[in-house]
Amino acid sequence: MNITLAIIKPDAVERRKMGSILARLEEEGFRVRGARLTRLNEALAGEFYAVHRERPFYESLKAFMTSGPVLVLALERDDAVARLRAVIGATDPAEAEAGTIRALYAENKERNAIHASDSEETAARELSFFFATGELIAVG
Ligand code: CMP
Repeated sequence: MNITLAIIKPDAVERRKMGSILARLEEEGFRVRGARLTRLNEALAGEFYAVHRERPFYESLKAFMTSGPVLVLALERDDAVARLRAVIGATDPAEAEAGTIRALYAENKERNAIHASDSEETAARELSFFFATGELIAVG
């Protein structure tokens, strides 16, 4: 079992898709070990996405991610990082496999409904933005 981070993004929260997405994640075998409805500020969004600092979409991405509430989730299952990436689909919903969360709920490449950590190392880094290790709920 390992844990990864998902963020249900402002576009999906605004369109009241939080529940549908969370239900899908539970159906896919993920257990919620931590959850927080929050709103990112500019500094946190900038640091979270620092790897994209030089990309042309960085400023727009920060503006979008701070535009409204997000639901941050610590999700556990076996092979959590890869399984979550598979369930959410490609960054661009036009390229996402049918039935994936982004194919179902994303608007476009930026407003793409959900974020998921892309490696175990990234998951550890990204989880630490939102959850203290001891804060995550142990489930049996
Ligand atoms: P995410 O998985 O959160 O990781 C980085 C985010 O940047 C990505 O989802 C999109 O929201 C956004 N992004 C990636 N590529 C582009 C792009 N070409 N144009 C606009 N936004 C993008």
